[in-house]
Amino acid sequence: MSTSQVSGFYKKSMEARLDIVRKAGKLTKEEAQVMANTGSLEPAVADRMIENVVGSMPLPLGIAVNFQINGRDYLIPMAIEEPSVVAAASNAAKMARVGGGFQAQTTDPVMIGQIQVVDVPDPDAAKVRVLEAREKILEVCNERDPVLVKFGGGARDVEARVIQTPREPMLVVHILVDCRDAMGANAVNTMAEAVAPLIEELSGGRVYLRIISNLAVKRLARATATFAQDAIGGEEVVEGILRAYAFAAADPYRCATHNKGIMNGIDAVVIATGNDWRAIEAGAHSYAALGGRYKPLTVWEKDSKGDLVGSIEVPMAVGLVGGATATHPTAKANVKLLGVKTASELAQVVAAVGLAQNFAALRALATEGIQRGHMSLHARNIAVMAGAEVDEVDDVVKRLLAEKVIRVDRAQEILQEMRGEK
Ligand code: MEV
Repeated sequence: MSTSQVSGFYKKSMEARLDIVRKAGKLTKEEAQVMANTGSLEPAVADRMIENVVGSMPLPLGIAVNFQINGRDYLIPMAIEEPSVVAAASNAAKMARVGGGFQAQTTDPVMIGQIQVVDVPDPDAAKVRVLEAREKILEVCNERDPVLVKFGGGARDVEARVIQTPREPMLVVHILVDCRDAMGANAVNTMAEAVAPLIEELSGGRVYLRIISNLAVKRLARATATFAQDAIGGEEVVEGILRAYAFAAADPYRCATHNKGIMNGIDAVVIATGNDWRAIEAGAHSYAALGGRYKPLTVWEKDSKGDLVGSIEVPMAVGLVGGATATHPTAKANVKLLGVKTASELAQVVAAVGLAQNFAALRALATEGIQRGHMSLHARNIAVMAGAEVDEVDDVVKRLLAEKVIRVDRAQEILQEMRGEK
């Protein structure tokens, strides 16, 4: 590539941008066409969502079935590129149904806005002055978002801390904002910026950063489920899952993967509903590390009957208004399919999927291992890559699995043999 400097790239049309990119990257017309295809997302909508748009990148959308949460049935859209995740969630939800499905709840949808104050002459006294001015601070914040206030949300409380940093002690003010059905970043950031001059006046310091925190400890979603011993394969399986959990609770290397499995489910629903999955990821992992040691987001226990009881608690800053949830046609259809009426209900669904996903992963790992399930899907992909037609795929997969050789070249040979036999 000669240069990546393209002046005025953002001002050009999508076609013109793609043309530049195609030439620079020596892409074929077909490859450029693949990039340009925006599917159900109108090119003009995509072009308004982010900058320098040339096309879109679709993900498979699968529907997890069998979920019952707080007595209600849900069909759950999941957007993800990884095989087995949707099947595993559906299977776990089926097993959870035997024990009454998932019970889920949320705290109020309160997000934290942070205001960083430096050069404060008397940080501890400034903290007291800020806390004393709570009502005034809330008033200034709420003036900025009368719509949120009208819908029952708004700034609710103020916290202040003096923190030691590598530079100097700093005063950190938190505004706690009930975001109702919004994810809340816009509302919180606007309020944090609006209240900054008052904070400077009260503290005698200088405000620097004014931004939401993704460690959303005030916006938690929780879910529990009881998996009847007999429904999941007996006592051995219960013990295996408890041991797998104990491993994660004791070891950060395992814990990262344990939590990754949870996020397989969580992210897929968050993406399908047009929400900010990076915010959810940041919140989940920072919450897992909050006590100073990185911990599993789920807990697994055995009840007096020997059944397996799982629970999850995770920050869940998802919204139903604003952002891609409101603009992306597939996200809108997905939300409609889910039938959730509030962001809190969506958060409960997402938490339940995270728990289901974790159960499925631990059960597979503690019994047959994860590869068997993966292998049949992998074999399907290989069969398709080798050129198998719809009516040939099953036979090719069967033979690849029986031979335990899952390679495109072998799939091609099998296809030739099968076609020769006809
Ligand atoms: C793979 O995407 C997720 C798992 O590794 C999760 C886990 O190990 O718990 C299977």
